[in-house]
Amino acid sequence: MKQVVNIEDLRVLAQRRLPKIFFDYIDGGAFSETTAGRNRAGFSNWCLTQRVLKQKEMPDLSCYYLGSQHALPFMLGPVGFLGLYRGQGEVLAAQAAKAKGIPMCLSTFSIGSIGTLRKDVGGDLQFQLYMDRDKSFVEDLLQSAVDADIDVLYLTVDTSVTSVREKDVRNGFRAVTKVTPALAFSMMQRPAWCLDILRAGSPNVEAVADYPEFGKGALEQASNLSGRLDASLTWNDVKWLRSKWKKRLVVKGILSAEDAKIARDCGADAVVISNHGGRQLDFASSTISVLPSVREAVGPDFCVLIDGGFRRGSEIAIALALGASGVLLGRAYAFGLAAGGRAGVEKAIDILSVELSITLKLMGLSGVKELQSNGTDCISRLG
Ligand SMILES: Cc1cc2nc3c(=O)[nH]c(=O)nc-3n(C[C@H](O)[C@H](O)[C@H](O)COP(=O)(O)O)c2cc1C
Repeated sequence: MKQVVNIEDLRVLAQRRLPKIFFDYIDGGAFSETTAGRNRAGFSNWCLTQRVLKQKEMPDLSCYYLGSQHALPFMLGPVGFLGLYRGQGEVLAAQAAKAKGIPMCLSTFSIGSIGTLRKDVGGDLQFQLYMDRDKSFVEDLLQSAVDADIDVLYLTVDTSVTSVREKDVRNGFRAVTKVTPALAFSMMQRPAWCLDILRAGSPNVEAVADYPEFGKGALEQASNLSGRLDASLTWNDVKWLRSKWKKRLVVKGILSAEDAKIARDCGADAVVISNHGGRQLDFASSTISVLPSVREAVGPDFCVLIDGGFRRGSEIAIALALGASGVLLGRAYAFGLAAGGRAGVEKAIDILSVELSITLKLMGLSGVKELQSNGTDCISRLG
């Protein structure tokens, strides 16, 4: 992947390799895609402070979040259907995360199950839960997570209704439950992708393979899973989950200081400031713009993670300076996976690590720890 110098290059390669229906699914946002754009634009409101002649060594990028020390201050967040972008996609992403010493959070909507990842890969695996209407099915998922020795569970709370991503509507994503002639034609435009997926065997959402009510094959299972999300989810369900899940619980999809405090009061160990990558509430704020108020509301010791639009190491530095405990990647590594499998995910991680390292060195910092403890001294608002 010599020609790749930044995350945008991985995006371009992903677009060339993936059938349009899958590229658009990854790339798209809700309705006018205003919030997806705001996530990216939000970083330019901040200036990092340049300091010179202070540090001899290159910075230490290791970082403590979610109860342990990690090689880097960012990790692979939950992205659905990785196994449709590359054969064995979840396994390849987990291998990359393990090789780079960072956690990976597996989505409920995955081709490879959490049990398979634990057995075939290992590493620092975490699990993301969508609350199904059927609580006994949720309890089965929790048991699979316990069996796979998962320490950190994320509950995603910003999808009480699935928003409209217009590209998906046009392409029929989630509406099609079988490969239609139009879909087959679109897939055949991407022969390398077709061969790779065929080689991996017909994709199934492994976690629901034993439940006939979800149907057969990834497309039908995905459509049924989405249709069963609990639209009546409230904070009482967070409390219910807290009572069932004894290990670390993270609430993902917080975009206000008030909700961050409620999550903490319901017993969450951490929150992820997230607007689902601009895929849910269109015209919501960028995630970076709400980070300072969330940090202030929950105090210095509570774990506050963030995602949304991170494509540069300098943007990760901005988040850490504004009080983030760590950053979750979404599309950045999904594009890498589609473009180059495990090597593509590792490339995405390397690109961001190098960019972050250069950024901290030019800020005169010894590492992530100093950036986080100096906090807002290292950053100012533009203008
Ligand atoms: C293709 C795709 C699938 C996603 N699937 C899930 C999911 O299954 N569960 C979840 O909690 N978030 C999911 N997300 C949201 C991501 O976890 C994350 O919040 C978002 O991608 C961050 O924005 P970014 O992609 O701009 O970095 C998905 C995002 C994308 C792009």
